[in-house]
Amino acid sequence: MTDSRIATAQLGTDGPTVGVQGLGCMGMSFAYGPADAGESRATLERALELGVTFYDTADAYGAGENEKFLSPFFKAHRDEVVIATKFALSIPPGEPTKRVIRNDRPYIRQAVEASLKRLDVDVIDLYYMHRRDVNVPIEETVGAMAELVREGKVKHLGLSEVTGGELRTAQAVHPIAAVQSEWSLFSRDIEAGVVPAARELGVALVPYSPLGRGFLTGSFANAEKDLTADDFRRLQPRFTGDNAAANAALLEPVRAVAKAHDASLGQIALAWVQQQGAVHGLPVVPIPGTSKRARVEENATATRIVLTEEELGLLEPIAAKVAGDRYADMTFTSAGRE
Ligand SMILES: NC(=O)c1ccc[n+]([C@@H]2O[C@H](COP(=O)([O-])OP(=O)(O)OC[C@H]3O[C@@H](n4cnc5c(N)ncnc54)[C@H](OP(=O)(O)O)[C@@H]3O)[C@@H](O)[C@H]2O)c1
Repeated sequence: MTDSRIATAQLGTDGPTVGVQGLGCMGMSFAYGPADAGESRATLERALELGVTFYDTADAYGAGENEKFLSPFFKAHRDEVVIATKFALSIPPGEPTKRVIRNDRPYIRQAVEASLKRLDVDVIDLYYMHRRDVNVPIEETVGAMAELVREGKVKHLGLSEVTGGELRTAQAVHPIAAVQSEWSLFSRDIEAGVVPAARELGVALVPYSPLGRGFLTGSFANAEKDLTADDFRRLQPRFTGDNAAANAALLEPVRAVAKAHDASLGQIALAWVQQQGAVHGLPVVPIPGTSKRARVEENATATRIVLTEEELGLLEPIAAKVAGDRYADMTFTSAGRE
């Protein structure tokens, strides 16, 4: 490993070792308006050069389009990358705001085959349950996922947006390598139940939206004014109207810390979430999403920033002051069930 590559971390007690920061690939095909395919491909290659080896997708991202888009890159670098994908969530055609969640065994079995086909690989390195269907006992869901491990279709298991209690029940069925949940300077609800359970069970935390979906970088201030009509962030309560203005004002301490480190706001947001690993005593591997080479470089550099106790103290009050929930429908999240 050369000096330019980022450090590594292990996911779970027997999970893969990955670069300590992964890459969220969702925005390359879905959710945040159009992305340039050529620049996205170049971003994937640049990330790997930097030691970013952990790539996050899901069958729901563009109804399979994101998995298909990533497939040639994964095939070209199969032994160097750790592929994470997810099942459970689908968006019915023509109903962009609707979500259907399924956690039952027949659904999981057909979902894994479809993902393997789109990705064009023999095995998925980390297979997550994307969202919880409360009508199916989690033991049943993880039992069906464990069958996939035994059959060699999947190497390791993960869960997204589960509560601490759900994680404990799941871990009793099969080892869980990672929990993926929203965690950032703006979204800290998982620190109450999920993070302590993960620490106790030896499960890694994979924070999604660590840049607050871009808001923490200061690159947009009001989704309705600054983002395209098809951008999912226009539907999120934090990024519109009075909430957006109030939340933009909360970035002032981030700006002050960034100045002291000669860093960007986004780098401070990423350094903060990375440092939560040391604060809470568990492996933390954030997956900031970008489709741009310059930004993947900027984000990877943040793994080298260490914030002082005083700086952590300055950033501490922010989350409690955020106006608006992180989703319009919080039943979708672990916090909605805690
Ligand atoms: N499990 C779940 O339910 C769930 C939910 C949401 C997301 N995820 C996963 O988590 C990944 C990351 O989350 P996310 O994409 O929602 O949010 P994020 O990482 O907090 O922010 C992504 C946004 O920030 C922009 N950005 C990235 N780096 C930047 C920089 N250095 N300066 C300025 N802007 C920057 C990106 O735009 P550009 O592309 O233009 O750079 C994009 O609009 C996703 O890609 C997805 O894989 C999972």
